[in-house]
Amino acid sequence: MDQAEKLRDIVKKNQKTTPKARIFTVTSGKGGVGKSNVAVNLAIQMKKRGKRVIIFDADFGLANVEIMFGAIPKFNLSDLIYREKSIKDIITPGPMGIEFISGGSGITGVNNLSKEQLKFLVGNLEQLDELADVIIVDTGAGISDNVLEFVMASPEILLLVTSEPSSLTDAYSLLKALHRNEEFRRVKSKVKVISNRVLSEEEGVGIYEKLNAVVGQFLNGDLEYLGIIPRDALLEKAVCQQQPVSILYPDAKSSRAFDQLSGYLLDGVAAPIEEKRGIVHLLSRFIFQRN
Ligand SMILES: Nc1ncnc2c1ncn2[C@@H]1O[C@H](COP(=O)(O)OP(=O)(O)OP(=O)(O)O)[C@@H](O)[C@H]1O
Ligand SMILES: [Mg+2]
Repeated sequence: MDQAEKLRDIVKKNQKTTPKARIFTVTSGKGGVGKSNVAVNLAIQMKKRGKRVIIFDADFGLANVEIMFGAIPKFNLSDLIYREKSIKDIITPGPMGIEFISGGSGITGVNNLSKEQLKFLVGNLEQLDELADVIIVDTGAGISDNVLEFVMASPEILLLVTSEPSSLTDAYSLLKALHRNEEFRRVKSKVKVISNRVLSEEEGVGIYEKLNAVVGQFLNGDLEYLGIIPRDALLEKAVCQQQPVSILYPDAKSSRAFDQLSGYLLDGVAAPIEEKRGIVHLLSRFIFQRN
């Protein structure tokens, strides 16, 4: 049995209840299209709606969430893996009672974890189901194997696109890779599209329709349209001030769009019925993919 199988075995044996926290994974084909802004602002809007929200920053490159929150985490996921810290130690408080976990960037040697260490890890990750109603995952862009592995294991995928041609072609490449994967096909997760930085709803719908047409034609797939975030100078201004627009300018048009989307995600879209694929499944993918 390799390490990942061992872990799955432990997860299966130890899982007391079905996963409770709802997980939204924000991803895109191309970088720089607004993932971190969407992750952080959806978190804020969901928090305003009374949900306990934890963001997981799974970007291997720049630590996006901490920059946007202006909060530096003392510990990250690797401090948990090696049993030095508990789940509560690696959760960093951000604004408005939103919390986040940094994925860290130097997880190595996980294949040599003992059974005891694996149990400790699973036991701690499981607690996230008690600590959060919603977990929002910010990923790196793209179609590299590690991002894909992770996106594939996500119960609800939010795919960000803009009207830039390269954003669309890269989103298509990502979707192509996903649709080739057996697990993805088996669980039939529906990818939800958000059009970002658009000038009108029509523009946003147009981007979705273009993408959905090729996905239908060539991948035999079907995407769901979620909505738009308008191009907003106040969002850019907030980014420069290292604060989320939903906090700094709650009435900005992008803040209102984030509010609307969060309402729709929480109330308008049914949570998928998934018995096993909760946060433990997802984070163990994150931990063991890189070996
Ligand atoms: N709706 C919007 N209106 C105006 N500007 C936007 C909007 N969304 C994103 N931007 C701009 O795009 C930049 C990149 O956004 P963000 O960091 O959220 O992207 P990302 O997809 O997380 O990038 P990366 O792939 O590097 O992690 C922001 O700094 C902001 O200036
Ligand atoms: Mg980012």
